[in-house]
Amino acid sequence: MKKVGLSKAYRLFYPSVPVIVACTDGGRVYAMPAVSVVSLSSDPALVGVSSSPSHATHGAILRAGKFSLSWLGSGRVRAVEALGTTRATTKDKLRSAGLAHGKGKVLDVPVIEGSFAVMECSLAGREHFGDHELLVGKVVQARAAADFRGYWRFKEYKPILYAGSPDGFTTYGKG
Ligand SMILES: Cc1cc2nc3c(=O)[nH]c(=O)nc-3n(C[C@H](O)[C@H](O)[C@H](O)COP(=O)(O)O)c2cc1C
Repeated sequence: MKKVGLSKAYRLFYPSVPVIVACTDGGRVYAMPAVSVVSLSSDPALVGVSSSPSHATHGAILRAGKFSLSWLGSGRVRAVEALGTTRATTKDKLRSAGLAHGKGKVLDVPVIEGSFAVMECSLAGREHFGDHELLVGKVVQARAAADFRGYWRFKEYKPILYAGSPDGFTTYGKG
């Protein structure tokens, strides 16, 4: 084995499934894909997003105190790429990336139409770790498509996989 530079060690986690982290603040819709998303606790249901404070979405989540997580299928890979390579400049970054959305059922958070799964989260904590901040979300509601029956069956849901550059995006499963 050869040494891997410590600043590149995070790439050993790839491929990872990107999740769209989104929120509404001051009438604007913010969104970014994140691969550093983790389940922290199942009871209560807590999730963590490791997010760079430099992102527009990060500041908006701190102000709004809530956010959504949306899992998109392989057909949305170009939109995910667009969200991950641009900074919010328009009033609605999701629509600018071609993603229609509505409101959450419990919280005022953007929920992307056609998602395979969605979580609505209230911001329950935050902690700096190096150049990122762990945003802890309390899951107040989670929903999934019929392809999830306790576990994913992967009959309809074909997750996007992100491998970083130069390979970029690929997908899990056929089609
Ligand atoms: C597939 C993918 C996954 C990403 N994962 C993360 C992540 O886990 N944490 C993070 O802080 N940034 C991550 N990024 C970077 C942000 O999504 C990206 O910088 C985005 O453009 C920020 O947008 P904003 O400034 O409008 O919030 C990722 C980018 C891509 C393409």
